[in-house]
Order: sequence, then structure tokens, then C-alpha cells
Amino acid sequence: MANVFVIGASRGIGLELARSHAARGDRVFAFVRNPDSAGELTEAAGESAGAISVHAMDIGDPASVAQAAADAGGETVDYLYTVAGVTGPTNNELESEIDWDAWDQAFAIMVKGPLAVFKAFLPAMHDGTKVINYSSQLAASTWPYGGMYAYGTMKNGLNRMMRSIAIDVKERGIIVITLHPGWVKTDMGGPDADITTEESVSGTIALADHLTIEDSGDFFNWNGERHAW
Ligand SMILES: NC(=O)c1ccc[n+]([C@@H]2O[C@H](COP(=O)([O-])OP(=O)(O)OC[C@H]3O[C@@H](n4cnc5c(N)ncnc54)[C@H](OP(=O)(O)O)[C@@H]3O)[C@@H](O)[C@H]2O)c1
Repeated sequence: MANVFVIGASRGIGLELARSHAARGDRVFAFVRNPDSAGELTEAAGESAGAISVHAMDIGDPASVAQAAADAGGETVDYLYTVAGVTGPTNNELESEIDWDAWDQAFAIMVKGPLAVFKAFLPAMHDGTKVINYSSQLAASTWPYGGMYAYGTMKNGLNRMMRSIAIDVKERGIIVITLHPGWVKTDMGGPDADITTEESVSGTIALADHLTIEDSGDFFNWNGERHAW
């Protein structure tokens, strides 16, 4: 049984990670912005015979992240999935007003947030802890399309930051990667996406199980292949 921490578990991929790890007998600490509106997760927790516990965390608020980690009581971290994300501003920014508040929110949630989470849970990590940070194919220089300036920027920044963190904790045996989960049928991915949350998550857990310290700092696809930077 592993201790699994999922940050952003109210719906979509994070919810499926909580369900799937609990189903194989792991202990899941599920963090959500608002436990009162995380109905599906609360239901899954109720049916999990104590395998899933639900905790409050707004990843965009460093004080909330620190408090949430303290609430988890210093339990050893075996797997940490930082999943929470937002699309950010999607208007045509060259032709219309730029929504700077939406840029700041995207930065707080997708760059500062994962750093705050990593630092808050670091004391509970050990040789062999696996940290999987949810990035996107839009982070890569190989992404062929324009648009989505904030989203691509934040995920690209996340990748570089996590590669640096991976280098800094390598001697302690902590494995840190970034992940493209596929184009997934969620509120963010939409109904026309390529794969289901179950497909994405089963591939990701198989990848996570087999990660070694040699993989640390790299960018992966949900199916276990390395992703171009
Ligand atoms: N779906 C795709 O095709 C796709 C592709 C590439 C990358 N990704 C990445 O994969 C991750 C998961 O995506 P998804 O498709 O599952 O998205 P989703 O269905 O839109 O769910 C987003 C999750 O993030 C949480 N969240 C947002 N802001 C938060 C905050 N301040 N504090 C705590 N939780 C917060 C949401 O909680 P609330 O319910 O409280 O809003 C929700 O649980 C994201 O990082 C996304 O960028 C997704």
C-alpha cells in the first residue's frame, strides 16, 4: 500500500487518479479547492472504506497549501500528483484586451502552486518518492499552433522549474517528472478529446510505478513514452 497525494481531485483526471489508486489498495489523500462542491469525490471517499480522505487546498494560495500539508499530518509521501490546472485566458490577445488577472491566476495555479506544493510536502518525501506534475503538450517547442499564450507559457515554465527541482533533489533519491496526460475527455479537454480519464490515468500509474531516478527531470507522455521538450 502506497500513500498517494492528489492535488486537484474534485473532477477530471485528478478524481480518476484518486479512484484508481484507492481501487488498487493505496491510501489516497485527495486535495480540492472546495470540499463542499466536490460531490463525486466525496461519494468515492464514502465508498472507499477509509482509503480516500478529502482535504481542502487552494493551490493558488501559498498559505492554503502550507496549511493543507500540515493537515495531512506529515504522512510519508510515496506518490504526489500535482494535477490542478486552468485554461487561463483564451481570447485573441492580439486583437482584444488582455485579461491580466487571468494571466496572474494561471501563474499562481500552474507555476507558483506546484512549487509551493513541492516545498510543503518535501519534508515527508523519501528516497523513491515519485512526483508527477501535470503539464501539457502545449509546453513543447514542437507544438505547432499559436494562441493559448498563458497556458503554454505556464506549462513550459512548470517543465523548466521541475527539471531544476529534480536536479536539486536527485541526491535524495526523489524522482520528479512532468507529464502530458494526453488529450483527455474532461471539462478542460472537452467531449471530442482522444482518450478517457481511465485510459490516461491507467497509463500514467503504470508509468509512475516504473519510474527510476534516471528518469527524473524528464517530460513524459501518459503512455510512458518521453515527450519532446
Ligand atoms: N484534459 C486535457 O486534455 C489535458 C491536456 C493536457 C494537460 N492537461 C492538464 O491536466 C491537468 C488536469 O486537467 P483536467 O482535464 O482534469 O482539468 P479539469 O477537468 O478542468 O479539472 C481541473 C481541476 O483543477 C482543479 N483546480 C483548478 N484550480 C484550482 C485551485 N486553485 N486549487 C485547487 N484545485 C484547483 C479543479 O478544481 P475545481 O473543481 O475546484 O475547479 C479541478 O479539480 C491540468 O493541469 C491540465 O492543464 C489536461
